[in-house]
Amino acid sequence: MNVLAFISIITYILVPSLRVFSMEADSITVSQSISDGMTLVSQGGTFELGFFSPGSSNKRYLGIWYKKIPTRTIVWVANRQTSINVTSGILMLKSTGSLVLSQNDTVVWCSTPHEQAKKPVAQLLDSGNLVVKDEEDANPEEEEGYLWQSFDYPSDTMLPGMKIGWDLRNGLNRRLTAWKSPEDPSPGDFSWGIETYNYPESVMNKGNKKYYRPGPWNGLYQSGAPELKPNSLFDYNFVSDQNEVYYTYTLRTNSLVSILVMNQTNYVRSRYVWVETDQKWKIYASRPGDYCDTYNLCGANGNCIISDSPVCQCLKGFRPKSLEMWNSMDWSQGCVHKKPLSCDKFNQKDGFLKVSSLKLPDTTFTWLDETIGLEECRTKCLNNCSCMAYTNSDIRGKGRGCAIWFGDLIDIRQMPVGGQDLYIRMNASELIEEAETGHKKLTKTIIAIIAIATSGMLLLGCIWILKVCKNNSDKVKHVDQDQNNGKHSEDLDLPLLDLSAIVYATGNFSIDNKIGEGGFGPVYLGKLVNGEEIAVKRLSKSSGQGMTEFKNEVKLVAKLQHRNLVKLLGCCIQGEEKILVYEYMSNSSLDSFIFDDAKGEVLDWSKRYHIICGVARGLLYLHHDSRLRIVHRDLKASNVLLDDMWNPKIADFGTARTFGGDQIEGNTNRVVGTYGYMAPEYAIDGVFSIKSDIFSFGILLLEIISGKRNRGFYHANHSQNLIGHAWRKWKEGKALELIDKNIVGSCIESEVLRCIHISLLCVEEHPKDRPNMSSVILMLGSEMELANPKQPDFYMSKFSDEANSSQPADFGTSNEITITQLIAR
Ligand SMILES: *[C@@H]1O[C@H](CO)[C@@H](O)[C@H](O)[C@H]1NC(C)=O
Ligand SMILES: *[C@@H]1O[C@H](CO)[C@@H](O)[C@H](O)[C@H]1NC(C)=O
Ligand SMILES: *[C@@H]1O[C@H](CO)[C@@H](O)[C@H](O)[C@H]1NC(C)=O
Ligand SMILES: *[C@@H]1O[C@H](CO)[C@@H](O)[C@H](O)[C@H]1NC(C)=O
Ligand SMILES: *[C@@H]1O[C@H](CO)[C@@H](O)[C@H](O)[C@H]1NC(C)=O
Repeated sequence: MNVLAFISIITYILVPSLRVFSMEADSITVSQSISDGMTLVSQGGTFELGFFSPGSSNKRYLGIWYKKIPTRTIVWVANRQTSINVTSGILMLKSTGSLVLSQNDTVVWCSTPHEQAKKPVAQLLDSGNLVVKDEEDANPEEEEGYLWQSFDYPSDTMLPGMKIGWDLRNGLNRRLTAWKSPEDPSPGDFSWGIETYNYPESVMNKGNKKYYRPGPWNGLYQSGAPELKPNSLFDYNFVSDQNEVYYTYTLRTNSLVSILVMNQTNYVRSRYVWVETDQKWKIYASRPGDYCDTYNLCGANGNCIISDSPVCQCLKGFRPKSLEMWNSMDWSQGCVHKKPLSCDKFNQKDGFLKVSSLKLPDTTFTWLDETIGLEECRTKCLNNCSCMAYTNSDIRGKGRGCAIWFGDLIDIRQMPVGGQDLYIRMNASELIEEAETGHKKLTKTIIAIIAIATSGMLLLGCIWILKVCKNNSDKVKHVDQDQNNGKHSEDLDLPLLDLSAIVYATGNFSIDNKIGEGGFGPVYLGKLVNGEEIAVKRLSKSSGQGMTEFKNEVKLVAKLQHRNLVKLLGCCIQGEEKILVYEYMSNSSLDSFIFDDAKGEVLDWSKRYHIICGVARGLLYLHHDSRLRIVHRDLKASNVLLDDMWNPKIADFGTARTFGGDQIEGNTNRVVGTYGYMAPEYAIDGVFSIKSDIFSFGILLLEIISGKRNRGFYHANHSQNLIGHAWRKWKEGKALELIDKNIVGSCIESEVLRCIHISLLCVEEHPKDRPNMSSVILMLGSEMELANPKQPDFYMSKFSDEANSSQPADFGTSNEITITQLIAR
């Protein structure tokens, strides 16, 4: 005991009733106490015990934290279940050796020592362990000598040297349990402990259900978590004998500070390492880590292969129990043997197929003999009809020990690294087939698998898939032909995503994740396993966007690369589902700001101007700079998305059209676009060109400045649309009255006037009178003289009113809808 601590204790004994802040001691003896405001510090100064309030709560708890780490990190809580209301908690050591935490003489929490102590003393060790021991014990420093220790009652944090698991002698089960919330240390429903099966293993639970298993210990690591094998920083160990079954780890270097924490917020157990230079806890590893870590994802005898699409495959020699459900990505029924087992003890017709690099199956129904080897293990398994697989229980050296599984094999996954061999029982004739196919060329097998997988999941398919599929079937038919003779130039260089991954990322298209409704279906926010956020556009089956538009959008956008166009990350076509995955834009769409009085304030003029210029650059790229000449045909505020830096990106290319090199305008029977943004020649005659986009841009400009919708604009005195209104004000020299009150304070008048001027030029009745995009950019960025705008089309304003009145329900609401069929005169 150092001098300082000694003095503190003396002081403390002398004035036991006084609460003195930051009084420090490293042990307490009978009749001494710690009250709120005082702390107990471990001898090496690493840990501190005292009262704290979690988060913003004002409830008091007794806990242990790292003394030297500035981020308050609570590693243990005594009274998790019962909080103390006021700062009057007091911890006392009773003569029985029991630690008692009370508030106003009400006992809130107490510890129960194994046995009666003669002269108990409570001490906080430098490992973070709060122990009660007998000073008269011959060997008080030995763990066995502790009358009680906090390490036996872990909270959510596993410190080095702690054991997670069972002391079978007294039935003590040490489990980690997450806090309910950062404010509430009481036990949540996310926990981790050891299951004492014949072949014991550690399991994480969510409520009563298994949530994740890292796989049983194989002498070196858990087969499903090979990254946790011994390295230069950590030693891991799993002990299983007649007295104890536990998992533990220690740090190899004193300079390292590392903990394992259960987190109820995201249901993840993470290993953190304290990084001194950054003064931060950093995540070293987290489990579960990916989709395949989901417990029993692929059902009985299924194998989860994270790099495959779909991720679930039947183990070799097995087939889906229900092909229909399996193909619709419902893997819960699992797989069954392709050929029945013989189970004939005397006339052996079964054999075993060795499958490598697996996370071993759930060990609930297992049998273990650590003394026998693999050959004997095989015989044991073969002789018991319900034995389905076996392997070595310890892989060190040449391998030893025997673990066998009864019944279905559950929760297997293919490990990219590590993993273990498993010998799986099957009908001998199946083995012969497997052996034969195994001799064939690897490429053949892979191609066949791709062909089966694609043909299984594909219905109509986008051009890309059709091509791949076609190529593949060609390849299967003529395996030996040169594969490079196909034409790939038109293939889209776009990742094809698996539906299950998207279902997972969006929480099964949960309504909570819906972030918008595009012209052809809802858009969801998704989160990939790696944490990347994505926007998922799910085309509704009933939507107007058929396969044509879909293919169009995919083909087009995949080729477009510009910082003012949203980036398409991938697509997915499976069965009826058509899904586009875009980069996620955290600030959603422009319309949600400019047409909203409250949110409109967020976008001051400089931001709006930045957005105008960005949209202009995006359009310039589409019209002139990209290899293709593209008319968007549905430019509007809701199709301009904003990222976290307020950079605008044009979205929704479902209606876009490409033009050949010198083609200037096109004609269509199918007018698509949105009322209020459509150029008259396009709305009425179906003639579109880059100039019809310019018209839409002009409208957009007016809307950004005025904060009002062109369609749905209503003026008390005259029935005019926004264009008509703007024209009137312009003519009257009162154009400044058009400005949205949200930007009146922040705008530069000359800039705004110039933008209004440009917008009026863009909405000219005759396409040839409208500027092209490069002129618009030039006009925006310079002080050059601008042409005088002509009066906008009278018919246009009338037309717009008609459109409004024909759909009164939509009038003036934010639900503008992209129409797919207007008129084809
Ligand atoms: C805390 O306060 C509540 C009501 O204010 C009371 O019911 C509860 O018994 C108190 N808890 C303790 C430990 O005194
Ligand atoms: C504690 O007890 C005293 C005396 O019985 C009482 O006056 C006081 O209100 C109590 N405090 C709390 C927080 O219950
Ligand atoms: C749990 O995870 C959340 C989100 O990642 C984080 O903010 C929080 O600090 C974590 N809690 C613990 C106890 O580590
Ligand atoms: C193995 O499979 C074959 C083919 O399905 C079947 O005819 C045979 O009966 C099976 N063997 C046994 C022993 O059941
Ligand atoms: C096979 O193993 C199971 C589970 O251990 C056991 O109940 C059964 O008796 C065994 N059957 C034979 C034939 O040994």
